[in-house]
Amino acid sequence: MQEEQTPRVVSAKLSPDDAMLDANLRPKKLGDFIGQQKVKENLEISIKAAQKRGETIDHILLYGPPGLGKTTLAFIIAGEMGVNIKVSSGPAIERPGDLAAILTNLQKGDVLFIDEVHRLSRVVEEILYPAMEDYALDIILGKGPGARSLRLSLPRFTLIGATTRYAAMSSPLRDRFGSVHRLDFYDDASLVAIIKRSARILNLKIDDESISLIACRARGTPRVANRLLKRIRDYAQVKSDGTVTAGLTLEAMGKLEVDNLGLDEIDRKVLRTIIEKFDGGPVGLDTIAASISEESDTIESVYEPYLLQLGFIERTPRGRVATRLAYEHLGFKYRKGQSAQASLF
Ligand SMILES: Nc1ncnc2c1ncn2[C@@H]1O[C@H](COP(=O)(O)OP(=O)(O)O)[C@@H](O)[C@H]1O
Ligand SMILES: [Mg+2]
Repeated sequence: MQEEQTPRVVSAKLSPDDAMLDANLRPKKLGDFIGQQKVKENLEISIKAAQKRGETIDHILLYGPPGLGKTTLAFIIAGEMGVNIKVSSGPAIERPGDLAAILTNLQKGDVLFIDEVHRLSRVVEEILYPAMEDYALDIILGKGPGARSLRLSLPRFTLIGATTRYAAMSSPLRDRFGSVHRLDFYDDASLVAIIKRSARILNLKIDDESISLIACRARGTPRVANRLLKRIRDYAQVKSDGTVTAGLTLEAMGKLEVDNLGLDEIDRKVLRTIIEKFDGGPVGLDTIAASISEESDTIESVYEPYLLQLGFIERTPRGRVATRLAYEHLGFKYRKGQSAQASLF
């Protein structure tokens, strides 16, 4: 995949390079988690209520585009509850036996965090249902007519699921989460606060103007903000005494081909493809994906959410349409009526 060959600086996806940065900059307490006010308030109530009753917290589902803080929140919840967290992911749990092994190793109160929970297979999900509902594990002993099933009881635990693709989850799985929280893109003020906090941790001297410039280009995404900050820090280290100024920030962004809205070459390619090859759309996601050699899944969960947020594309039943804003941003002349007409369908 393209992503692996040329890592994008504005990609919200986690790269190995980020893992260290993420760990350093990840807030550990709910109070240090910036923005997402509504989610935070609801979680705080769940945590406090569970603590007062001396019970485990209900299963929690976190969803939203990559890089917005799902993994961070899972760790924070476990930390605030004072319990262990075991981490796995949908694709890593291949067989029912893998999940059974994880479940039987849990201790009372533990958090089990399953990332990309929409990618669990149906057979694995079947094991998860009674585990979530009744804290029970059904195992089949033997084969054929002599087979019998045995029910083991599991300790009470909290499942925290995270997904970038809520719609791809099966509804029985969704229904078994006691609370569901959607993370939204961050506003500029929150991003400014996040960048300031990160700069402090990284011991970086940076002026307010540079912080705003980074915030505008961070695609509403803390992971992108942190990554841009790190790249600019490297740039400042080489080009000046390490202090970050606005001029230097703009220079570094230019080098990284990140434009004033945080779009990079791939975002622009998606938009240009719709506009130039498909007359502004509507065009199906799979067709766009094929023309730029990306996977539709990646486009849908990684690139598209921010382009939708900017109002650069619209989803219609017949496919994606580029809007006037997209034409204007890329310097194309908008062909009147095209998108408006297309979005009527
Ligand atoms: N609300 C926040 N406040 C401060 N930093 C945050 C916040 N949300 C995310 N981050 C930063 O962004 C990085 C990516 O967050 P992460 O939880 O890994 O996102 P996700 O799991 O949704 O892809 C974290 O390492 C953390 O440094
Ligand atoms: Mg994550």
